[in-house]
Amino acid sequence: MKLKGKIAVVTGAGQGIGRGIAESFADEGADVVINDLKADGRTDEVAKSIRNKGRRALVVAGNVAKRDDVEHLFDTAWSELGPVDILVNNAGIETIVPFTELTDQQWEDVTNTNLKSEWMCAQTFCKRLIAEGRKGSIINIGSIQAARVLPGRTHYAPSKLAVEALTRNISAEVGSHGIRVNCIHPGLIDTPMIRWVLESPEILPHVVAQISLGRPGQPSEIGSVAAFLASDEAAYVTGQALYVDGGWVGK
Ligand SMILES: NC(=O)c1ccc[n+]([C@@H]2O[C@H](COP(=O)([O-])OP(=O)(O)OC[C@H]3O[C@@H](n4cnc5c(N)ncnc54)[C@H](O)[C@@H]3O)[C@@H](O)[C@H]2O)c1
Repeated sequence: MKLKGKIAVVTGAGQGIGRGIAESFADEGADVVINDLKADGRTDEVAKSIRNKGRRALVVAGNVAKRDDVEHLFDTAWSELGPVDILVNNAGIETIVPFTELTDQQWEDVTNTNLKSEWMCAQTFCKRLIAEGRKGSIINIGSIQAARVLPGRTHYAPSKLAVEALTRNISAEVGSHGIRVNCIHPGLIDTPMIRWVLESPEILPHVVAQISLGRPGQPSEIGSVAAFLASDEAAYVTGQALYVDGGWVGK
């Protein structure tokens, strides 16, 4: 087991990729703090699945784009489960709006959720690790759209490309404390966020034709890579961005 005895916080883990990562981590022996906007049936189900794997699970609701909620998330994680070893900044939103119609509010909503949240969670986590002299690992979730243009994403794509720069810059500042920071850029992954693509007979074949493996990925296929990056098997890997996209960028 790659993550035996570790404690991980996964943001936006009520469904989709976050859930896949939380479950992969539990399979590898980690206890998991499940964050999402609300504690509801979805988060309960993820917690149940983690407990069924013999690991501890804790649901902490909160909006990771808000400073107070971020502080509450880490306070609760530390006090209920113990010192956290791994943070996965996964929470994100995507909207599709033509560039000339994009509003300030839409820009801010996407940028705050996808980028500012990752900065705030990473900063809060690193301050605690450094104060306690503990090592740790952070995985930031970006997107294939850091490298590929899809229409109507002039707010989403920059927020995701910036995650890569955030990753490199944080990794440079915290490496001497034994904290590693890496980024995963997922391709087309079967989650509620992109169900409309998967269910569209017009759009799906067009997208899949661009993917070398010729299919969408599963959340568990992001989870297994995240588990590797979080583990000691990746002890000399930091500041990197990895496309886990079935060969989309590479095609
Ligand atoms: N699915 C894909 O094909 C794909 C591709 C590239 C990147 N991504 C990225 O992967 C991440 C997960 O995507 P997904 O497909 O699982 O999406 P999803 O919409 O299925 O799940 C995202 C979860 O995050 C939660 N969330 C949203 N805003 C939040 C906030 N402010 N605080 C806490 N939780 C919040 C949502 O409630 C939801 O449960 C996102 O960052 C997304 O941009 C997804």
